[in-house]
Amino acid sequence: MLWKVLAVILSYFIGNFSTSIIVSKLWAGIDIRKYGSGNAGATNVLRTLGLKAGLVTFVGDALKAILSVWLGDKLGGENVALLCGIAVVMGHNWPLLLGFKGGKGIASSIGVGLYVHPMVAIICIAIGILIVAKTKYVSLGSVVAISLLPILLLFVQFKLFLFGLALAAMAIYRHRENIDRLLKGTEPKLGQKSRIK
Ligand code: G3P
Repeated sequence: MLWKVLAVILSYFIGNFSTSIIVSKLWAGIDIRKYGSGNAGATNVLRTLGLKAGLVTFVGDALKAILSVWLGDKLGGENVALLCGIAVVMGHNWPLLLGFKGGKGIASSIGVGLYVHPMVAIICIAIGILIVAKTKYVSLGSVVAISLLPILLLFVQFKLFLFGLALAAMAIYRHRENIDRLLKGTEPKLGQKSRIK
């Protein structure tokens, strides 16, 4: 039991390891949370520092999530892995070690999703990419893709549906300003610089 609890707590702190903050510091000596959308995530690194830095950030955040779920799986099996998946995204979005100012959890959720149910995750990712390609709104693709996750997982297993629902709820909550801007038509498109915070 102790190991299982420790795995979940450790996952939260692995989530605190914010690739965007490290990459932006090393790449350009800046705190990404003071630029662009102010979000500590791959999209904001991409718009502020370019494609290479954005990709490194995305991969780093996805990998830390995969590491957490894998750890949970090894130490406690499927249920613990699911809890670790939720914990790593929580740690990414609301990092204690970074003053609770984190990201929106999409790259981390992708990592978690790919480990837990690759087929469903790939469908969500593909639909998200199509939406981004068509509309140039990363946030719209992110919100639609993560909302699809619990819906598709409902056809697999109720427990996975609840897990997907938790990831979707966190992501939608963190995207509430993007959703507001999308509705007002003021959300910056991919390639468009957004206001510096
Ligand atoms: O994954 C985050 C993305 O959906 C939106 O990021 O920086 O445009 O708020 P951002």
